[in-house]
Amino acid sequence: TLPIRIAPSILAADFAKLGQEVKDVTEAGADWIHLDVMDGHFVPNISFGPDVIKSLRPYTDATFDCHLMISPADPYLEAFAKAGCDRITVHAESGPHLHRSLQAIRHLGKKVGVTLNPATPLSVLENVLDDIDLILIMSVNPGFGGQKFIPAMADKIRNARLLIGDRPIELEVDGGVTVDTAPIVTAAGANVLVAGSAIFKGAAVEAYRQTVFDLRAA
Ligand code: DX5
Ligand code: ZN
Repeated sequence: TLPIRIAPSILAADFAKLGQEVKDVTEAGADWIHLDVMDGHFVPNISFGPDVIKSLRPYTDATFDCHLMISPADPYLEAFAKAGCDRITVHAESGPHLHRSLQAIRHLGKKVGVTLNPATPLSVLENVLDDIDLILIMSVNPGFGGQKFIPAMADKIRNARLLIGDRPIELEVDGGVTVDTAPIVTAAGANVLVAGSAIFKGAAVEAYRQTVFDLRAA
């Protein structure tokens, strides 16, 4: 089975000290850093852009897992690639030409991901399974951290794992992942867990380590 990777989402971190937070959570054992880019158009919130990611790049050698909640995404792919994103994930719902966006990310030399909102069926992936390295299943409606995991997504995660078959595709789950829901998510077949508030909200730095390891051990 694939190793469980923990991808803390810095949306929940203290934006006044993001570099230190990225450094601390890396030292606490984070595998990837999940970067939630929000444009206030595709989702009802605004977070940060490529220049912030560029500033964070020197603080860690962890994989930068860039979750683009923007539409259109295509005009910005190069900027995120240049800012230091290692993986770039676009929403299937963010535009009419998903295959073209995936090709563009591949052409930029980055790992390619597709995200599905809770209501979006897995069938939208059928014709691009050989063009992607990652599927990101939203287990909350995108835009905010600290929301509750949508239980119906457990079946969707299971079906996504079946759809992947023996392809080398990471299955990442995002939203409401805590030490309580993580076991459901890993049992359903996910191998990358995004966690924002579970790691950053109220947790002192030394507690990150425990939460990160608790999540991985789930
Ligand atoms: C929501 C983001 C998630 C969110 C996760 O739109 O894509 O990554 O920050 O935060 P928690 O883990 O608190 O649900
Ligand atoms: Zn995210």
